Amino acid sequence: MSHPHREIRPFASSPLPRHIAIIMDGNGRWARRRGKPRIFGHRAGAEALRRTAEACAEWGISHLTLYAFSTENWRRPEGEVRALLALLRRYLQESVADLRRRGVRLRFIGDVQRFSPALRKRMEEVAAALGGNRGLQIILALNYGGRDEIVRACRALARLAAAGEIAADDISEELFARHLDTADVPDPDLVIRTAGEMRLSNFLLWQTAYAEYYSSPVCWPDFNRLELAAAIRAFQMRTRKFGGLASPL
Ligand code: FPP
Repeated sequence: MSHPHREIRPFASSPLPRHIAIIMDGNGRWARRRGKPRIFGHRAGAEALRRTAEACAEWGISHLTLYAFSTENWRRPEGEVRALLALLRRYLQESVADLRRRGVRLRFIGDVQRFSPALRKRMEEVAAALGGNRGLQIILALNYGGRDEIVRACRALARLAAAGEIAADDISEELFARHLDTADVPDPDLVIRTAGEMRLSNFLLWQTAYAEYYSSPVCWPDFNRLELAAAIRAFQMRTRKFGGLASPL
């Protein structure tokens, strides 16, 4: 007989990825296969997001970044953009109590200036309400593009240089990273993309220099703890070398 209570988890014997970053893909395909509108898939995707965050919080993952809206997503039909932003608003409204209980913190990366003042205010309030938590940090990438983030960091450094506060030679990898949206966030160890796709699509270009990549065959609305555990286990079985040699056991 199987043991329904013994769920699949990451291996207990090897370290967990500290930071998991996910490109949530396949909402549209998932909906189309069911003869439903795309937004139906996004709605189910928001549930998958909840499930995934829950598992990460429970297993002791420290950071989870989710690519929720890219700088390119504005090109989608207006109705779909509006529906995605409405889902975000609803998530921010409905999840605070649950996130607080689970010890989760929330942070945003991306150029949020593009969003309405009301939505930005809501984002700030939720982040502040969860600021005291010490568990999983969820990072939502919103109006996020890796190249855009790098350009914005360059502008910030150029302004400091023009003001005479830094010299050109002061710019190091560390200083540069401190001007990215992800300042103080450890680089992702594991990047997961769903729906079988194998592209980075402008996601965390700087930060994923040494990340392990995992492509999950399921569409994002079907992603669950089993799939997450499979991705983490695959990560745990790899040897990371960071350009050096594998250390002998
Ligand atoms: C990709 O699927 C998914 C997105 C562009 C948006 C991700 C958004 C969510 C999961 C919704 C909820 C967000 C929050 C913050 C609650 P796709 O539409 O590109 O799928 P397709 O490639 O199959 O068309």
